[in-house]
Amino acid sequence: MPPLVRPPQPHHSPQPGPTLRDEHNVTQPIPFERPVETRSEARAATTATAEPPLGPTGRPMPVFPEPTPITQHGGARVISMCNQKGGVGKTTTTINLGASLAEFGRRVLLVDFDPQGSLSVGLGLNPHEMDLTIYNLLMDRDVTLDEVVVPSGIEGMDLLPSNIDLSAAEVQLVHEVAREQTLQRVLAPALEHYDVILIDCQPSLGLLTVNALTASDGVIVPLECEYFALRGVALLKTTIDKVRERLNPKLEIDGVLGTMFDGRTLHSREVMERLVSAWGDTVFHTVIRRTVKFSDATVAGEPITSYASSSTGAEHYRQLAREVLTRWPAE
Ligand SMILES: Nc1ncnc2c1ncn2[C@@H]1O[C@H](COP(=O)(O)OP(=O)(O)O)[C@@H](O)[C@H]1O
Ligand SMILES: [Mg+2]
Repeated sequence: MPPLVRPPQPHHSPQPGPTLRDEHNVTQPIPFERPVETRSEARAATTATAEPPLGPTGRPMPVFPEPTPITQHGGARVISMCNQKGGVGKTTTTINLGASLAEFGRRVLLVDFDPQGSLSVGLGLNPHEMDLTIYNLLMDRDVTLDEVVVPSGIEGMDLLPSNIDLSAAEVQLVHEVAREQTLQRVLAPALEHYDVILIDCQPSLGLLTVNALTASDGVIVPLECEYFALRGVALLKTTIDKVRERLNPKLEIDGVLGTMFDGRTLHSREVMERLVSAWGDTVFHTVIRRTVKFSDATVAGEPITSYASSSTGAEHYRQLAREVLTRWPAE
């Protein structure tokens, strides 16, 4: 028997290759004899029949379908948020992409893998009041994952916290057997509980980051929309390639994310253009704009998706979550 209540239907056709019709959601037939229209109506009618609108990356903006609910959890996809430059939005993206995926019903584990502990602080934890951190999990075989995982304050999202103790791990791991696979080993029991594990890397390409890449299926590279941002990306790519060759053949680059974009400046748009010409469709269509709300949310110790739920920043991260889910293999 069909259900009495029809589940909500996606706004747009989820089929690939959106047509012009899908893009504009043209549902109303245009009357044969149109009444006198205002100037803005005339303009809207013109754009509805023109090319699909260009997104902030200069490419036509696809419509990303609403994620379908999932009933079974596990088989987590592990993603590293990686760029050896600091202040590019790795931590902000980890928190807010994670929170958006949790809103879409995914079970998310965030891994703070930066001794600065910004991810933990950004979720309201006090670095001096942590019993156990990821450092203990890496270095002490008696410590189990369950003992270290804490709730993040967001339903469906947990956290493996870190603080400055983790900086010692970089030195101590050098002497370990299989030193590059340590994080992979300690995360293994989490794979069956979560749908997504996001690792917030430190701003370096050292042993901790190599551990994160070795444990991952994919990498997301946040890049600030500034000229200097493009420097160093080649080195990051070489590191990813080396890890793929030597340690983790399944490692993919899931996408490059433009952050702190300011559409009013030619500069931001030029950087986007150069990004797309260098990386092509690896660049996410979604771009995160610059707004002070992100620092406010950090001070409040929450994701922007809960601190300012209807802000554009929150909406952009929800859109990133939808886009990311279209790129990942079916769950
Ligand atoms: N889109 C944005 N607009 C404005 N400020 C941002 C944006 N994204 C991040 N920030 C701020 O920039 C600083 C660095 O961001 P963060 O995510 O910590 O970068 P990373 O982890 O790469 O060092 C933080 O203070 C953060 O609040
Ligand atoms: Mg950070």
